[in-house]
Amino acid sequence: MNFKIIEFKEIESTNKYIKENLDKLRGFDVIVADRQLSGYGRRSRDWFDNSDNLSFSILVKTVLSDRIGLITQLAASAVHRALKGFEIDSEIKWPNDVVINSKKICGILVETILIDGVLNTVIGIGLNVNNSKFSKDLSNKATSMFMENGTTFDKSIVLKVLLKEVGKSLTQYFNKTDEFLSVCRNNSSLIGEYVFIEKNRRVKIINIDNFGRLLVEENGETLTFIGSEVSLNNLYNG
Ligand code: BTN
Repeated sequence: MNFKIIEFKEIESTNKYIKENLDKLRGFDVIVADRQLSGYGRRSRDWFDNSDNLSFSILVKTVLSDRIGLITQLAASAVHRALKGFEIDSEIKWPNDVVINSKKICGILVETILIDGVLNTVIGIGLNVNNSKFSKDLSNKATSMFMENGTTFDKSIVLKVLLKEVGKSLTQYFNKTDEFLSVCRNNSSLIGEYVFIEKNRRVKIINIDNFGRLLVEENGETLTFIGSEVSLNNLYNG
């Protein structure tokens, strides 16, 4: 895959930049910021960012498809494999987090804009690379590559490795072979766990289906959720 990297020192948000410059950008353009000033995550949450993080977004142009929910999964599998290449073992917390011992090392935000039949898909990836500590409210929830193996990483090398892995997963997506789904299933931090999807609704997580949706079991019935429908913060083992 021919990615073209466009670098910025500081930018509000790499996802936002792509969405605002769709007319100038091409498929597989990659926007990288040494630092984002107002990076954001799902549900418009702030994304903590400084120059220790790797923050970038990839523009992918496709046709409208019911397979679009797989994009977050393919990105998560790529991050998992890239981390493994740096000897860091991680788990994928459906739909869009990569975690180590329940602490988040990477967040993924996929946004889409349909223009004249072309689906512009923005894959935003925020990876904690050289962070040596986090603020009090994040310290129990976040980790970084440095904190996991004590090495400082060159962010441009980490980006290259990540793009290579994203390229592999995208090829599987375009060929509809979707091998990346096994990476998400086999390294899921959720499958087999019980979670509350609402107060008093305790369900068992069964699997991720071929469209990237979460399958859960509630009172013997199987339910299907897409990423935007559930928040899985109340995870517990039981
Ligand atoms: C989440 O945890 O909810 C997803 C976080 C995604 C953060 C990345 S950093 C690069 C890209 N630009 C943004 O503003 N957000 C994504």
